[in-house]
Amino acid sequence: MQTPRTRISDALALEPVQSGVRIKGWLRTVRDSKKVVFLQVNDGSCLANLQVVVNPEVDNFEDVRKLTTGSSVEVVGDLIPSPAKGQSVELKATGVQVIGRADPSFPLQKKRHSFEYLRSIAHLRVRSNTFGAVFRVRSMLAQAVHEFFAARKFVYVHTPIITGSDCEGAGEMFRVTTLPAGSSTPASEDFFGKPTFLTVSGQLNGETFAMGLSDIYTFGPTFRAENSNTARHVAEFWMIEPEMAWSDLDDDADLAEAFVKHLLKSALERSSGDLEFFNKRIDRGLIERLQHVVDADFVRMTYAEAVKILERSKQSFEYPVHFGANLQAEHERYLTEEHVGRPVFVVDYPKEIKAFYMRRNDDGRTVAAMDLLVPKIGELIGGSQREERQDVLEQAITEAGLGLDEYAWYLDTRRFGTAPHAGFGLGFERLVMYVTGMENIRDVLPFPRTPRHCEF
Ligand code: 4AD
Ligand code: MG
Repeated sequence: MQTPRTRISDALALEPVQSGVRIKGWLRTVRDSKKVVFLQVNDGSCLANLQVVVNPEVDNFEDVRKLTTGSSVEVVGDLIPSPAKGQSVELKATGVQVIGRADPSFPLQKKRHSFEYLRSIAHLRVRSNTFGAVFRVRSMLAQAVHEFFAARKFVYVHTPIITGSDCEGAGEMFRVTTLPAGSSTPASEDFFGKPTFLTVSGQLNGETFAMGLSDIYTFGPTFRAENSNTARHVAEFWMIEPEMAWSDLDDDADLAEAFVKHLLKSALERSSGDLEFFNKRIDRGLIERLQHVVDADFVRMTYAEAVKILERSKQSFEYPVHFGANLQAEHERYLTEEHVGRPVFVVDYPKEIKAFYMRRNDDGRTVAAMDLLVPKIGELIGGSQREERQDVLEQAITEAGLGLDEYAWYLDTRRFGTAPHAGFGLGFERLVMYVTGMENIRDVLPFPRTPRHCEF
């Protein structure tokens, strides 16, 4: 019987000497020094490669010499202490099997490529150090999300992807239809008998579940047809949205703070190898910054205070700021990076610039909203206490120019045993950017979708 495959991450942790170790992976480099060939093999289980040493005694030595970068191989051999520096062990091959040769045009050769170029080969870039690390960290963070909520007994709800309602009321939705392009057939004869869209947020469905299960969360893909070409926006992204009954805005911010800290702590503890790579190659000071956030108390300030700080800052912002204005990325970054130097919750925004479902404050002009702003990213989380009073909610829906009929099911939760509740949405890609130091959101999604880009 064949010995099973050992992952390279496990092989690197074994005590030498071990015989009959079998690994499988892709060649990062091939170095032929006439009498011996050195292969650097990577299988994605960790950042490091395993060095394989192939001597002429190996049957197909001449074939091995001709191997190209990117080829896939299976190697059996003895794991021995390595004389080379930077690695404690290497694999002395007793047998090498070529599984799949790579055409010499394989684009990921030794030279370093720009992220922009690598985006054009998103189907291959996962075989580079940076992208292997990004997607391992992304996966680990997704698991940490579920652990956080499981430990707090939140119920995980799969909210729908196809929807008939615009949660944010901003009209930035992709249409879902089976009608042929250019058809003038009315929506009443379309697949669902009405206009339908890809969801921008699972929140409204999530709220209905919180009004029965108390503490819930959704974690799924969301879609926004906003035509913004920035390093922080994509048309398809993943969002984590908890919703808690019997909770107000303070409880909401407490949960968000604990959540972000849990995620960063998990990354520091469980992805340390990959984080060291990012710290060295992508973003110097990353690890220290993450540790600082884990240890810091997040600041909380009202929108009105934030506007005063910005007005007094004497910065020359591109967009003027005054009470009632939307905070732009430049304002958000000034507040979190320059003014407080750590994450900050801005709360109580003017009602005109926030969504209809947010709870109206007693001052009559603001709502119980919160945005969490973090250094280098800006807005990581958007959330609020929800309007639980039926009459006030109906008025807000009408004022937003939306139809009460369309939201009848949502209003039912207020009609039948309403309860105070609050929740938020954390943009998962922005979290991955924050944790890895990657500066463009297109580089933390496996296959990013942005205006005019939907390859692969
Ligand atoms: O602030 P947003 O629009 O809030 C909501 O959708 C609420 N329904 C959430 C809730 O209360 N349950 O989006 C939440 C977060 C933002 O803070 C941002 O991190 C991320 O989602 N986000 C985007 N990420 C990437 N690309 C985009 N186009 C994004 N739009 C929002
Ligand atoms: Mg927002």
